[in-house]
Amino acid sequence: MNTSPLSVFSQSTVRKSPSTEGLCCSSWRSPANIAIIKYWGKRPGQIPANPSLSMTLSNACTTNTVMAASANLPSLLINGDIKHPFHHKLNIFLEWMKQEIPALEGLTFHVETTNSFPHSTGIASSASGISAFTLCLLEIASQLTDVRLSTEELLALASYASRVGSGSACRSLYGGFTIWGASSLVAGSSDHFALPVNDMVHPDLADLRDAILVVSSKPKSIASSYGHQLMKEHPYERCRITQAGNNFSQAMLALQSGDLDLLGKISENEALSLHSLIMTSPGGDILFEPGSIAVIKKVKQFRSGGLPIFFTLDAGPNVHLLYPNNAKVQVENFIRQELMPLCEEGTIIFDHRGSGPLRLSQSSR
Ligand code: PMV
Repeated sequence: MNTSPLSVFSQSTVRKSPSTEGLCCSSWRSPANIAIIKYWGKRPGQIPANPSLSMTLSNACTTNTVMAASANLPSLLINGDIKHPFHHKLNIFLEWMKQEIPALEGLTFHVETTNSFPHSTGIASSASGISAFTLCLLEIASQLTDVRLSTEELLALASYASRVGSGSACRSLYGGFTIWGASSLVAGSSDHFALPVNDMVHPDLADLRDAILVVSSKPKSIASSYGHQLMKEHPYERCRITQAGNNFSQAMLALQSGDLDLLGKISENEALSLHSLIMTSPGGDILFEPGSIAVIKKVKQFRSGGLPIFFTLDAGPNVHLLYPNNAKVQVENFIRQELMPLCEEGTIIFDHRGSGPLRLSQSSR
């Protein structure tokens, strides 16, 4: 029995046929997210080893326009190219989507994609890119069939599906704070899709900001998909699962009570733990750059002066700084004066808690 929520499409009987003259088209803008509790390690079926928690951003986002045509071309073209750096990842995901949604079979998909953040800044674009692509594909599938979805249903299906393309992408479907992974602490949480938890968040944390310091724009030396695999034979695998579970519980308490200090300390512990796990993996690697360490040290020093500012990092050298809106002026002065010189070409993306994906257009002729 097919229990996938996407089976709603296989039960549909109608398949309209887009032609080269009559394209189906959908366009979405979807944000990146920053993980406070990191997803690192997974089980078969893209099941996370531990629950994760993230904040969806606003300014760091990807816009995708996807057009489907029944033409005798390669099945996927990204910005007119089959050699686009994202082609391999997106194509594997597209093949999976076609198995789930037969109406997508036999079509060519033209993807036009742009990131709001400067090109090759080393910011993980897979969460924003895959979530936007999934929304477009699902909307096209809906145009091709008699399946009609409310926006809420579309987002829920996209969260379920996009996790297969990139785990962290499933959290980008919702604004604010989002969790992915089954936890007894949050009713309705699941390993198969993300859940927004904003109704559990104290108002004091409603306006958190994130300055992304681009220390290096060089491509990462390990892809996160490889990093997840390395956790399977990691000597600290069991400890990590326990640690992540404890940090997740503490972070949920901090969110509910509005304890930024606790949330920030956990986010720093998660970032340093992630990098420690990468360093101690078989064939370990160092993803920090000297600038990353210099930023971290300066942040700790600045915080001892009393202002709330905390760091986190994904699997790369760039540093995310979290701070509340009421400290924006002082914190951003410090960032501009002390930290900007440590960034590549002074690149910083000033971002904040965002409200999730935005539909730009859809059309079916
Ligand atoms: O979604 P992936 O497979 O790119 O993995 C994301 C891993 C981290 O960014 C390090 C952590 C996270 O939860 O986003």
